[in-house]
Amino acid sequence: MPIVVVVGGQWGDEGKGRIVDLLARKAKVVARYSAGNNAGHTIVNDRGEFKLHLVPAGIFYPEKTCVIGNGVAVDPEVLLGEIEGLQAKSIDTSRLVLSDRAQVIMPWHRLLDQLEEARRGDAAIGTTGKGVGPCFTDKVARRGIRVADLLRAEDLVPRMRAALDYQNRVVTCVYDAEPIRFEDCFDTYIEYGKRLAPFVGDVQEIVLDAHRRGEHVLLEGAQGSLLDLDHGTYPFVTSSVPSSSSSGAALGVGIGPTDISRVVGVFKSYSTRVGNGPFPTELFDSVADQLRDHGKEFGRGEYGTTTGRPRRIGWLDAVAARYSVRFNGLAALALTRLDVLDDIATIKICTSYELDGEIIDTLPARESVLNKVRPVYEELPGWQTPTEHVRSFDDLPPQAQAFIKRVEELLGCPVDLISVGPSREQAVIVNPIF
Ligand code: IMP
Ligand code: MG
Repeated sequence: MPIVVVVGGQWGDEGKGRIVDLLARKAKVVARYSAGNNAGHTIVNDRGEFKLHLVPAGIFYPEKTCVIGNGVAVDPEVLLGEIEGLQAKSIDTSRLVLSDRAQVIMPWHRLLDQLEEARRGDAAIGTTGKGVGPCFTDKVARRGIRVADLLRAEDLVPRMRAALDYQNRVVTCVYDAEPIRFEDCFDTYIEYGKRLAPFVGDVQEIVLDAHRRGEHVLLEGAQGSLLDLDHGTYPFVTSSVPSSSSSGAALGVGIGPTDISRVVGVFKSYSTRVGNGPFPTELFDSVADQLRDHGKEFGRGEYGTTTGRPRRIGWLDAVAARYSVRFNGLAALALTRLDVLDDIATIKICTSYELDGEIIDTLPARESVLNKVRPVYEELPGWQTPTEHVRSFDDLPPQAQAFIKRVEELLGCPVDLISVGPSREQAVIVNPIF
């Protein structure tokens, strides 16, 4: 039975949350496998509107097990706040399981994230400032603190002392900032450990058990593949593996790559990016404002779920998207926010780049080159009619059908699902993914 991975195909915020929410209906286990609370999903359902940063989007279905894998960086304060927020709206959180092998975001990670961004000045990455990058740095440097360490003072004391001994040297010598005192944070983290203990378990077993029993498992990516540490627009990337490549998804819950049967990529009908870094199709005109503020009065505009920053807006970049389709091994696409294009007279898709008078159709690795390429656009007529109510492909306006067909051709992958609004039912299912 399938283990399906859902990844963002662009620079994040493609609407993975609502796609996972929709697909979760058929899954027994829904798992987050990477990143931390730099991610943000907005989910609208019959219980209200929710902004989730760590808890998998499957939590709204009472019979699903939702797991946070070893690949995730967990800020305990954020996770506990999210759990309490869900409980306050009577959402059952008893089926949430947190991996004991997940890394913990500590106060020095948040501090270092902010200090390093300030030090970079004009070259700042534009991180979310949540401490995710420094947490993953410590994981690789073998200095990290894991969920398992929070559960007992005998484990936490030596690990926290060792980490602080190192980090305070960095904080004071590199950044000339105030050190963090052990006494000021130890009690808080031991207390977090006590409150998280009921949720801690063996995530790998849960995923593999479901797989063995023939139940569907959904692995929910965070961020977008073009922010991937390996394949993204380095160095303007996140510090984890949002893509399914390098077996990021398998690694993040502790299964083998061959256990995964299908990878679904979620793409917006246009592009957005928050934070800094190359963005060839970025728009600075009134179309950008129009797309950004579509549905703003209902809180649906293009503003970050985690930071509230206005998102940078551009046309769909088929060069970058095709690259993402390839390195993710995508078998199906979900195209989101089609309705946002409803009012646009002429829609553009970038089909190649121009570089010093030559046409290229691959994404250059060099940042300086990527900043220089000029998008070559194909223009398609808009449909200029509402699509929010449409539930079948044949009922879409012909121009919208043509746009989708062209996206399939350019990306070399079928569009199996289209979303035309924020709620669960505002979707056109062309081919059921499960
Ligand atoms: P970090 O992940 O906070 O270190 O930020 C690194 C880059 O990834 C910045 O450009 C962020 O804006 C971006 N980023 C991180 N998480 C998300 C997300 O969930 N959606 C969109 N962009 C994100
Ligand atoms: Mg988001």
